Amino acid sequence: MNSFPLAQSGRSALEVAAEAAREAGKILLAHFYSTKTIKHKGKGNLVTDADILSETAVLELLKNEYPRHNVLSEETYSTATVEGYTWIVDPLDGTNNYVYGIPFFCVTIALVKDDDILLGVTYDPIKDELFSVEKGQGAYLNGSAIQVSGESSLQSSLVGLDLGYHDERGKELIDITAKLWGQVHCLRIMGSAALGLAYVSCGRVSLYFHRWLYPWDIAAGLLLVREAGGKATDWHDNMAGFQTTQIIASNRKLHHEFVAYMV
Ligand code: IPD
Ligand code: CA
Ligand code: CA
Repeated sequence: MNSFPLAQSGRSALEVAAEAAREAGKILLAHFYSTKTIKHKGKGNLVTDADILSETAVLELLKNEYPRHNVLSEETYSTATVEGYTWIVDPLDGTNNYVYGIPFFCVTIALVKDDDILLGVTYDPIKDELFSVEKGQGAYLNGSAIQVSGESSLQSSLVGLDLGYHDERGKELIDITAKLWGQVHCLRIMGSAALGLAYVSCGRVSLYFHRWLYPWDIAAGLLLVREAGGKATDWHDNMAGFQTTQIIASNRKLHHEFVAYMV
């Protein structure tokens, strides 16, 4: 067992993260089928009232349980410096899917200490699937251990990606995807980076890549992939941290073959 700090209530940090994600998930589910208030943060980048309500619920619980920890959360805090124990929160990953009524989105929460990702949860309220992970303890889906896929060639693999909100960076991904076309079993544009990584960890997707992600999109997912036996790097094969923006996350076996497409 890891000796992460206990919450004010005496619960473990993972229990608190899981409760926060489930509470936020209830809020997202309750608003999914109704009209949302939508604001544009940038081109293609939306935020809804549900994002904010979900974030408020998560941060309130974390503040009560860990009043001295820092928080980096997508809609509220945008500090680039993470020091000491810090909770990293994306209250709704997959906002575009959510807005357009596509039931593929999640809440994702991680606890880091300086550069080290200690634990994380990614919760899909539609399917009631909770991906959870603690460093050194393996990765789990609804309490059962999970592992990455066994595929050893791209030709037999399902590969996932997302394009993000930046036209030029998205175009680079489309160019790589054009090179990949015909060399993979099939491709999926997921619409949620956090679920893309969670799906690598449970073997549904064999490799996921992206050009520009933020700590809240990936902190839990990177640890999920590693603890499930996979590998997560930047586009130059350096180990990825939660501040890394370019991501390749795979079942490990496909990594080398895929990195060749990045040049
Ligand atoms: C986005 C999603 C999307 C990815 C974007 C992310 P959001 O997060 O993960 O799949 O392509 O780069 O910013 O805005 O839905 O929280
Ligand atoms: Ca996100
Ligand atoms: Ca978000």
